[in-house]
Amino acid sequence: MADAKNKVIVEELIQDELKSKTPKYNESSKVVKMEKLGLQDLPGVGAATAEKLEAAGFRDLLSVAVATLGELVETAGVTEAVARKMINAARDSMKMGFETGMDVLRKREGVSKFSTGSEAFNALMGGGFETGAITECFGEFGSGKTQIGHLLCVNVLKDDPEAHVVYIDTENTFRPERIKQFAEGADLDVEDTLNRIMVARAFNSDHQMLLAEKVESLIAEQGKKVRLVVVDSLTSHFRAEFIGRGTLAERQQKLNRHMHTLSKIANTNNICVYVTNQVMAKPDQFFGDPTQAIGGHVVAHASTFRIYLRKGKKGTRVAKLIDAPNLADGEVCFEVQEGGLKDIN
Ligand SMILES: Nc1ncnc2c1ncn2[C@@H]1O[C@H](COP(=O)(O)OP(=O)(O)OP(=O)(O)O)[C@@H](O)[C@H]1O
Ligand SMILES: [Mg+2]
Repeated sequence: MADAKNKVIVEELIQDELKSKTPKYNESSKVVKMEKLGLQDLPGVGAATAEKLEAAGFRDLLSVAVATLGELVETAGVTEAVARKMINAARDSMKMGFETGMDVLRKREGVSKFSTGSEAFNALMGGGFETGAITECFGEFGSGKTQIGHLLCVNVLKDDPEAHVVYIDTENTFRPERIKQFAEGADLDVEDTLNRIMVARAFNSDHQMLLAEKVESLIAEQGKKVRLVVVDSLTSHFRAEFIGRGTLAERQQKLNRHMHTLSKIANTNNICVYVTNQVMAKPDQFFGDPTQAIGGHVVAHASTFRIYLRKGKKGTRVAKLIDAPNLADGEVCFEVQEGGLKDIN
């Protein structure tokens, strides 16, 4: 009994302390001005825990606020109860409760849209590939998924001379030569363009997950202005490593964690995340398209936008938007050319 009472008192003390440190609001702009609150201001976080958290990529309150219990327990070695308190305190201090639709609309004004170089494709995507979201392209081999990844890199770098992009390459298909062609097509300095692309070859699914987690430190430690993260391909390692029905649950769990990391990167840093995905044959499908994307619901639900790419007539490609929160489903046709995409009516 006494213990429980003590616990309540401690919790109240923590709440009081946090309240005295909660951020001040600038009423006119409604922008939250954070007083410099650090990890060590969280309940249960001393110097050692803060160090562990930082080493695991939790550098500010926001990263803790959007973490899951499991992540904190695993990385900081705290108990679940402490992790819950840390998360709640971080969320409180960030005012992560309800907000009005107007606030959300205002936030959405910070969303950038990156061009694919094809007007029709951009229109299909409501202006381009969005930041703060994951866009997934799936389709058979040679359908153009990697080409779009390369093109996006160049267009993002063209859009902002200080921008950097991250390319996580799992199939060894990143080609600087192709970047050179697209950069020339976009009138960009080739060397500068290549210098602003950070490529990492992922050798297995664990490595791929680790690389995605490293993106945050690239931003925090090296101060790189990362605007785009490409994962090409998202699923190839997972598909190759987890064979057979017995391993499916584990594969999906890991994929889910990976998608969670990517979506966190997209949301907390307003980054455009582009992932490619393969398809497999559906042997029991007699009508319609006999293919389906790998990764099932885990990948489908975590992706904000989903595009199905397929080969059309005479070397053309067809992109079909099939799942978007605020756009109508539709289809466009284009051709991959040396310098970029060309619309086909
Ligand atoms: N320099 C180029 N000029 C014109 N078209 C090109 C050029 N380079 C590649 N392509 C086109 O892009 C196609 C390859 O597309 P891409 O590599 O993006 O496929 P993918 O969907 O990534 O396939 P996979 O599933 O095998 O990774 C080629 O078949 C060709 O049609
Ligand atoms: Mg490819």
